[in-house]
Amino acid sequence: MRRVTILGSTGSVGQSTVDLLLRNPDAFVVEALTANRNPARLAEQARSLGARFAAIGDPACYAALKEALAGTGIETASGPASLVEAALRPAEWVMAGIVGAAGLAPTLAAIRRGVIVALANKEVLVCAGSLFMQEVARSGATLLPVDSEHNAIWQCFDFDRVEGIEKVTLTCSGGPFRERSVEEMRRATPQQAVAHPNWSMGAKISVDSATLMNKGLEVIEAYHLFQMPSERIDIVVHPQSIIHSMVSYRDGSVLAHLGSPDMRTPIAYALAWPGRIATPTKRLDLAAIGRLTFEPPDERRFPALRVARQALLHGGGSPTVLNAANETAVHAFLEGRIGFLDIVEAVERTLAAIPADNLESLEDVYNYDRTAREVAARLSGHNAAARAHAPVGLR
Ligand SMILES: NC(=O)c1ccc[n+]([C@@H]2O[C@H](COP(=O)([O-])OP(=O)(O)OC[C@H]3O[C@@H](n4cnc5c(N)ncnc54)[C@H](OP(=O)(O)O)[C@@H]3O)[C@@H](O)[C@H]2O)c1
Repeated sequence: MRRVTILGSTGSVGQSTVDLLLRNPDAFVVEALTANRNPARLAEQARSLGARFAAIGDPACYAALKEALAGTGIETASGPASLVEAALRPAEWVMAGIVGAAGLAPTLAAIRRGVIVALANKEVLVCAGSLFMQEVARSGATLLPVDSEHNAIWQCFDFDRVEGIEKVTLTCSGGPFRERSVEEMRRATPQQAVAHPNWSMGAKISVDSATLMNKGLEVIEAYHLFQMPSERIDIVVHPQSIIHSMVSYRDGSVLAHLGSPDMRTPIAYALAWPGRIATPTKRLDLAAIGRLTFEPPDERRFPALRVARQALLHGGGSPTVLNAANETAVHAFLEGRIGFLDIVEAVERTLAAIPADNLESLEDVYNYDRTAREVAARLSGHNAAARAHAPVGLR
């Protein structure tokens, strides 16, 4: 029996992980679950999985969690420290499924125990980069990629003969605005931006998929996970999301991973690794699908790709700034304070405003993260105010 913990169990990745655990009660036992502001779902999951510990990030939700779990014997706690406590409890497999840099401290706590960490929370790798990878190496932890593209590459990547690998190619659905003009995107609402054509995901990653910042973050993620330079990480738009990514070898072979777009497949691979468990995901019927198409990404309409690659090439704390500014701007967009196109503009201007040449410690990460959030919040506000007063043609 593998003892597991899910950080972010109430989210989209978290719920898919819970679904697989409920289908395989003989293979897994649950140590701890965490959420931020959803005590009802957290309590329901903890009861049905028989978890030992449930932690909620927001202290204002603690009373509700405690009441919902009264008499069950399940321990409860709240506040950011409780998320770290959850990660420190004795599970040998931990899902990092929190969204954003908020997941950094608990994910690092799990890494430092030297256990298996299934990584969905790409922002922690983007913001802490090589420092995060050094912690993985130092602790002897095993990092398993859950992001569907990186999970696909992992399954096709010959780690013992990397000299034979020419490049990796991340596939990209193109998001809900793949065929939209710049003018149409300028007017895009949060509701339109979160309506992803193929995947059902949390709000933040859905907006990232609409700006294509998600693919930019994934380039940085691939750079660290597979130690590939940016120029050997390609992106191809593949609207059907059937091929999840590819690895090209020097003899001309290209290995691809295919499957229906359902996160339970990559999560199941990480959960059972090195074995495989059955999942109920829709089986692939290529004849029924009929046609798979591919096109190059359009960096003019989706500048996030260029901005993210530049941050990676600049190095130091630039990816940390990129991530924090993006989280702040996406939040402002979801709250209706800025427009869709303002997101990447705010990120680019934050990067230009903060010289971030060195990243030497986790303290640097937290400092860059905090400064970038302040600058991006200010810029997001200015953008919105300036645009509201500008003549329509200039908006
Ligand atoms: N969804 C996907 O298909 C998918 C695919 C690939 C990669 N990923 C990555 O996986 C991560 C999770 O994505 P998601 O779509 O599952 O997100 P989500 O649905 O928004 O869920 C996020 C989870 O994190 C918790 N959380 C949010 N803010 C927090 C904070 N400040 N402190 C502690 N916990 C917090 C949420 O708790 P509450 O529910 O209580 O708010 C929830 O459990 C992201 O990094 C995303 O990029 C997701």
